Amino acid sequence: MCTATGSGTAVQTLSSSQGRSMSVEAAMMEAGTSTQDALELMIQERTLSGDQDAFMVADLREVVKKHYQFQKALPNVMPFYAVKCNARKEVIATLAKLGTGFDCASKGEMELVLGLGVSPNMIIYANPCKQRSHLQYAAMKGVRMMTFDNEEELPKVAKYHPTARMLLRIQTDDSHSFGQLSSKFGATLGSCGRLLGVARDLGVAVVGVSFHVGSSSQNVPSYTQAIADARKVFQTGTELGHHMQLLDVGGGFPGTEDVQPSFEEMAAAITSALSTHFPEDLRVKFMAEPGRFYVTTAFSAALNVIAKKEVIETAGGSDCTRRRLIYYLNDGIFGSFNFLLFEENRLQPLVVKKPCGPQLLHPSTLWGQTLDGADKILDDVALPELQISDWLVFQNMGAYSVSASTTFNGFVPMPVHVLHHADACSTI
Ligand SMILES: Cc1ncc(COP(=O)(O)O)c(C=O)c1O
Repeated sequence: MCTATGSGTAVQTLSSSQGRSMSVEAAMMEAGTSTQDALELMIQERTLSGDQDAFMVADLREVVKKHYQFQKALPNVMPFYAVKCNARKEVIATLAKLGTGFDCASKGEMELVLGLGVSPNMIIYANPCKQRSHLQYAAMKGVRMMTFDNEEELPKVAKYHPTARMLLRIQTDDSHSFGQLSSKFGATLGSCGRLLGVARDLGVAVVGVSFHVGSSSQNVPSYTQAIADARKVFQTGTELGHHMQLLDVGGGFPGTEDVQPSFEEMAAAITSALSTHFPEDLRVKFMAEPGRFYVTTAFSAALNVIAKKEVIETAGGSDCTRRRLIYYLNDGIFGSFNFLLFEENRLQPLVVKKPCGPQLLHPSTLWGQTLDGADKILDDVALPELQISDWLVFQNMGAYSVSASTTFNGFVPMPVHVLHHADACSTI
């Protein structure tokens, strides 16, 4: 495979690290099989059989690595993985084995996690606005930790889940993130005193504060400011008689290493702000709700070129023309590329075709397979010329992809082939 980044870029070959032939099934069982090995074998097999269907490969060892990276950088913060980010059973089961908790938004997510044997004490029902029947389900199953950010939620909780332990979700500055949440969720600092008072009067226990700085946050001060704000809310809560003991710093941590600030830099600033505002003698426990951090790099998608067009473009009114190649791939924003609706597009497709000599790169557009005009994967990427049935691979596809796929236009979500789901924890 070769990366395509821009016109004239040297074409890099990325071949199977094992360089041997074996069946796909055998490769999946091999302890050392990498995602590249599996992708190459599966593409080879499909090319021989004429199967064009898109698919994903997931390597759960990546998820395990991320867990250790998280623990190393934030040793005092207990991760509660945000299930919404990627709800594949194998991911949840791997994380459950590692002992993380889970952030669930609905009855369905709680059912999934509880069904895998996770204790209800290891779940936070982190949806501030809950449907009554989902709240009743949480009560029935003993999921007690949950968030709120408004007054209307409190009588509901008092009536249907009186033993709940609530975290008051506060608003943050999420202007530096790609997935902003604060216009939908989070109480203003000014309203927290009133909310804590109403909770006390209704007999609802508030045990702490939560926040989320927005998904894919690029801004350390958003965390440190939110931690400082949370400290004020702890003070008010304690004065009103609540036993405040838990701070949830949410998600927002990057999924890949190629970002600034790095995860480690963010973690260092968070650790420092936690010790400044929540010194040890307060005995406050810390937790987080990382989503994309855990799963982004674990999943890669292989898509097939199902159709192609050529357009001759005139450059700036001159006589010069150039070819633009337009490809139609068999997934898109209504499938596993759904996250493109909400995020910066950082995709860099890998071309699965052995170069035979120097490659001319053409401006190319990649469309999804549906009839919707918004279904575009990449607008302007330099690629060597592809033919129908050629394959493209997209890495870093684990977050908000499979979990957000639809069946719009009758296209089904692509299958995921999971590597190392039995041995992921033991092979690191
Ligand atoms: C309440 C809550 N927690 C955690 C997350 C996970 O965020 P991320 O994937 O950015 O870590 C989200 C994402 O939207 C969320 O809404």
